Amino acid sequence: MSKTLDFIILEKTDSTNAYLKEKIRSGEIFSDTALLALAQEKGRGRLSRAWHSERGKSLTMSLALKSPLSPALTLLCALGVYEVLSEIRKENNLQIKWPNDIISNGKKLCGILTERVGDFTVIGIGLNVNNESFPTEISQKATSLYILSGKSFDINALWVKIAESVKKTLAEYDFTLCDEARNKYKSLCVNLGKEAQFGEPLKKGIAEDILSTGELLVHTEWGYEKISFGDVFVSGIY
Ligand code: BTN
Repeated sequence: MSKTLDFIILEKTDSTNAYLKEKIRSGEIFSDTALLALAQEKGRGRLSRAWHSERGKSLTMSLALKSPLSPALTLLCALGVYEVLSEIRKENNLQIKWPNDIISNGKKLCGILTERVGDFTVIGIGLNVNNESFPTEISQKATSLYILSGKSFDINALWVKIAESVKKTLAEYDFTLCDEARNKYKSLCVNLGKEAQFGEPLKKGIAEDILSTGELLVHTEWGYEKISFGDVFVSGIY
């Protein structure tokens, strides 16, 4: 991974992930790049869901990092974002919901969408910063730094810190969920020891471990299941 990071700020775009993916494919982006959109009009979340954002209130950014293909990488990205958020909100007992949501008091503060294009991993980060409220459909599920603290935060300063922290975290752990990274992730993961509901038709079990592959290990009445994608519901959490 190169040591430098290029920074781009756009007035608006459909989706910061889609923008970076297109520029990688066209060869216009060929080194590690961070992108902030002041407004994002068609943001996407995991499992093709829409991602809500508001100009000046939501932080919508993506990173294009040259990296090996690693399923655990998405968990490491959550650790990189966590480093910055836990520093500015020490009071808030932030946790990670597998695989990479940052949550507080059972509500989602930040979502991460990782996608692969060529040699690059594109890491899209949506962080609720200065939102005072949310649309009814997500008002019970989402929180923001403003709601947690009563204070406004400077998105321009925050996104650079997050970009640098994610890049540093991936490099520090060599893109793998090594023992140190895995133990850190496990200490923050809200799923462990709790009931997990997953799959279709819905199955239940106790989430017991995070494997070095990034999978969630769930003990069901039929045996152990390794979960590598999809939603895992935890009671009491959105
Ligand atoms: C999730 O479903 O939790 C992931 C949400 C990821 C949203 C971010 S906002 C910036 C980037 N651009 C997108 O279109 N999505 C990601």
